[in-house]
Amino acid sequence: MKADNDLYRQMRTLSAEHLWTIEVPKFNQASATDRPRLAGLIRAVGVVFASSGTASQKVAVKAWMKSLLQDPSEKVRRYAMAAIPKLGGDVEAEKEILSILKTSSVDREKRKAGAALEKIAGQETLQTLAQSQTPLPFSEQKIRANVARQTNPSSLRMDEILERYDTLRISLRCRKGLEALLAEEVKKSAKHGGKFRLLEIRGCHVVVAATAPFTLRDLYQLRCFDTCAFSLGRIDNPQAADAIQRLAKLIASPLTERLMSSFTVGSFRYRLSFSDAQTSDVLLQKCAQAAFEINPRILNDARESAWSIEVYVTPTAALVELSPKVLPDPRLAYRMGTISAASHPPLAACIARLADPQANEVVWDPFCGSGMELIETCLRGGVVKVIGFDLSEEAIQHAQNNFQAANLAGVKSHFIVGDFRNYIAETDLQPGTVSLVVSNPPLGRRVRVPNLQGMFTDFFQAASRVLKPGGKLVFVNPLKLEPADSSLRRTYRQVVDLGGYDCRLEVYVKL
Ligand SMILES: C[S@@+](CC[C@H](N)C(=O)[O-])C[C@H]1O[C@@H](n2cnc3c(N)ncnc32)[C@H](O)[C@@H]1O
Repeated sequence: MKADNDLYRQMRTLSAEHLWTIEVPKFNQASATDRPRLAGLIRAVGVVFASSGTASQKVAVKAWMKSLLQDPSEKVRRYAMAAIPKLGGDVEAEKEILSILKTSSVDREKRKAGAALEKIAGQETLQTLAQSQTPLPFSEQKIRANVARQTNPSSLRMDEILERYDTLRISLRCRKGLEALLAEEVKKSAKHGGKFRLLEIRGCHVVVAATAPFTLRDLYQLRCFDTCAFSLGRIDNPQAADAIQRLAKLIASPLTERLMSSFTVGSFRYRLSFSDAQTSDVLLQKCAQAAFEINPRILNDARESAWSIEVYVTPTAALVELSPKVLPDPRLAYRMGTISAASHPPLAACIARLADPQANEVVWDPFCGSGMELIETCLRGGVVKVIGFDLSEEAIQHAQNNFQAANLAGVKSHFIVGDFRNYIAETDLQPGTVSLVVSNPPLGRRVRVPNLQGMFTDFFQAASRVLKPGGKLVFVNPLKLEPADSSLRRTYRQVVDLGGYDCRLEVYVKL
């Protein structure tokens, strides 16, 4: 075993070319007694060719792997069965492996055949399953999910109406500190024909209820949340022996099926996860298996599923939520390109809410990056001109493309590569000509800044100079730094968690 692992580790550092032209021929020439000793090579070939090698080499490698299923050595066959799914199974491989499953007398080999079929199964395996009188060494759910993924792939229906919405609780998730802005967005939208009303704020979740039949797209009219989830219920006493069964009942409930059948085209598949590190994979599989036994139309499947089910475990309760994997996010249809330090989209939307543009606004972002704050502000209406600066040429290119894709008719734009401190020299940004400054500046983490304090001092000064009286500055402040200029009066401050570190979201008004 150790020798197999050592050989595998050594072989997997070699290139696809070397493996195929040197090591595989050596293996083929080895005697029947030597081949099992070299089985580590089979594993390495599977791993290396899963991500490299030419198309024609991959075809040849797969044919070689399939030929190994006929090898007289049980060990060689077993290694080939483990490697084949990595290269993508096919009907021929499936048939061979099914035949090993039916004819082998070695338990270990049968189990390996079952594990391979869980990953590559098609109609043949389903037939075997239907005809078998005895239990087979694989999970029926995994087999069904595998077949469903291939024959009936799923995607979300953004425009399908959910008619029965009555007792549904929808959890909108956001970064800590943004809850109040998101809750306010829900309340304001409800006043203007929105279909959701605020129920409560719970941690980083804003819980809403529908007030009318709705679509997923209706939900995605709200811009200040990150992801959403439908509550499937909760159980108390999650450490009790019957907890798995009670969780399974929620996972496989009629509510889950109703939501999936409204909002999904294709098979009903979800990825199950538990929030706590203590829940082992074995327990998770037991829970998924129990749910499958209750409702076999809903399948746990980690790959390419349109839904995820998360179990949030606390010492006294476990909450079960169903989340649609809305990708790509329709709210970001304008995003043609991005930068590594781009803003968290809901944060950009929150900045735009705080900016609250009225009529004829001229908006400046001195650190515009890919332009999210400027675009989100324009999407609220009232903006006539945006000016974006960034040191990075690539960022400005993205900002221009994104701005164009956002289709903001009637809004002039001026994007400039350069340091914001040269603002007057490089543009027509004269003192008192801007009504809004919005920005998510470099916070000194992902984008290193030699003198962060000095840069923010200059930033306050620049904003104060270009803003006209009554104008607003809305930005993320990583420092406990106040403007030296008393003509900027702070009207809002909220600490926000930006993914492990706190910053302050601040609004200043120019007096
Ligand atoms: C956090 S990112 C902005 C992200 C942006 N809001 C977006 O959505 O892509 C900060 C940006 O500030 C730019 N930057 C850093 N120092 C600058 C300076 N002195 N003048 C102008 N831009 C600067 C960086 O190149 C970076 O793109």
